[in-house]
Amino acid sequence: MRGIVLAGGTGTRLHPVTRAVSKQLLPVYDKPMIYYPISVLMLAGIREILVITTPHDREQFERLLGDGAQWGVRIDYAVQPSPDGLAQAFLIGADHLAGGPAALVLGDNIFYGHGIGDTFTESVATVERDGGCTLFGYRVSDPERYGVAILDRDGTLVDIEEKPEKPRSNLAVTGLYLYDPDVVELAGRLQPSARGELEITDLNRVYLQRQQARLVDLGRGAAWLDTGTQDAMLEATQFVQVLQHRQGITIACLEEVAMRRGYITAEQALVLGEEMGKSGYADYLRRTAREFLEMGTLP
Ligand code: DAU
Repeated sequence: MRGIVLAGGTGTRLHPVTRAVSKQLLPVYDKPMIYYPISVLMLAGIREILVITTPHDREQFERLLGDGAQWGVRIDYAVQPSPDGLAQAFLIGADHLAGGPAALVLGDNIFYGHGIGDTFTESVATVERDGGCTLFGYRVSDPERYGVAILDRDGTLVDIEEKPEKPRSNLAVTGLYLYDPDVVELAGRLQPSARGELEITDLNRVYLQRQQARLVDLGRGAAWLDTGTQDAMLEATQFVQVLQHRQGITIACLEEVAMRRGYITAEQALVLGEEMGKSGYADYLRRTAREFLEMGTLP
């Protein structure tokens, strides 16, 4: 399965901050926001990644992420001329997907939780084996701000609504979506919504009609964090800070993910850490790479 990170949009809810800098390049505590969704794809075992940006932000993303070789993955770039909807990612990314299955992650979504990488990896395998699409749900206090999933008594997905005024459940559809190869053709048949966008929820409803949509509830043990507003950004930063300080870990350290998954060696990770300089992120990377070299494993 190949991956797409959608990192365009106008970021108007964060103006004036996002007038000159793309939202997905803003820091969430100690690293750029886009590190978090990239780590999700890498944890899911996806190594061919297309980053879609606005035309004018592309260069900065390329400067930050390069071609991905440093993390043992491949990163390509494409632009979305205007924010015409999340489902447009599959039309822009059609060549990248090369007729295969697809994972889309929104560039402003943060996932965290014990075992979440395994959950994503298993879900990728399910879509590769059985086709259809897999969505990930998370219970929130403000479902009206999201796509909302409705399950029946058996936990089967029966309906999805985009930002309903009166949500029929508190289960938000998060910004990670897995699809079979039909996704490009199905996205191509969508009509723009009332707000003029190719809606991901409409695409998911097509899979639902085909009885090929499933939902994995991430459960209370996981965290899915929003970065939609200034307050949400601050809360996400505080969440990452508290966890990292308490546990002495770094969330979404891409070099560590690459090392753990065997995409790069511990020696390579150590070199990257040594090149990075004096930041806390770099300290952690060096420490973790050395521990891996000494012990041959990591906790
Ligand atoms: O975060 C999960 C939610 O994402 C889902 O629950 C909703 O069903 C889905 O529609 C979407 O809702 P949002 O209101 O968060 O979508 P938004 O328009 O804010 O776009 C999400 C991100 O994608 C944002 O960082 C901007 C970027 N984007 C958006 C559009 C419409 C693009 O890169 N291109 C676009 O065309």
